[in-house]
Amino acid sequence: MNVIWLETVDSTNSEALRLLPELPSGTVLAAYEQTAGRGQRGNTWFTRPGQNLTFSIVLKNLSLEASQAIRLNFLTSVAVASFLESKGVKAAVKWPNDIYVNGGKICGILIENSLDGPMLGASVIGIGINVNQREFSQLANATSLTLCTGKEYVLETALKEFLTVFERLLPSLAEEDLLQEYTARLFRMGVSARYHDLLTDREYRGIIRGVEPDGRLCIQDQDAPGLPLRHYHFKEVSYLL
Ligand code: BTN
Repeated sequence: MNVIWLETVDSTNSEALRLLPELPSGTVLAAYEQTAGRGQRGNTWFTRPGQNLTFSIVLKNLSLEASQAIRLNFLTSVAVASFLESKGVKAAVKWPNDIYVNGGKICGILIENSLDGPMLGASVIGIGINVNQREFSQLANATSLTLCTGKEYVLETALKEFLTVFERLLPSLAEEDLLQEYTARLFRMGVSARYHDLLTDREYRGIIRGVEPDGRLCIQDQDAPGLPLRHYHFKEVSYLL
């Protein structure tokens, strides 16, 4: 992969989307500073300049059907979790693709795809990993690699190491066990906890039983035993404490 480091940019995802026609597959745009980092659900992704990894991987013509796009989320989540494991940090994937360590969010992922008929055309995989930041004043539940290990990291080296893990996993995009790798790291898997069903506005106690190949989260409703598993698309359920 070819890494281009930018001093400052609004958002590496936005920059990659603007430059998309010219960027070969495998280009990685990384920034020391993002002035308008973008998160899921239109949120802003805040990180202190020069302290964390904020980057976007451009992939083109992956031979992946558009209906399989969720596999990029599985792959990226597993890659981030594996990278953190290589640093001695045990990470969990909060469905669909937030990475948590000890109850704190350490990484967010924002994947933006364009379609080419029924296939994925280009994908911009935006990843923000909190690396050397020690204080998160605006963000109550954030953590970083340095808070987990007490060590400081060289950002350029950490990015290279992450990309090595990502590239090693890339062939698994077409393999069945990718979903197993993903669910093996799933936060709250098999654990009784509370959920808010946003479709019916009902709160209940349930157990996550897994994720379907199409990405839907499966929860067993403990307040309504005997009913089939509940299946959720993104934004249809929220986790309660
Ligand atoms: C989230 O958890 O809400 C997703 C956050 C994604 C942040 C990364 S940082 C690099 C890339 N550029 C962006 O503007 N966003 C993603």
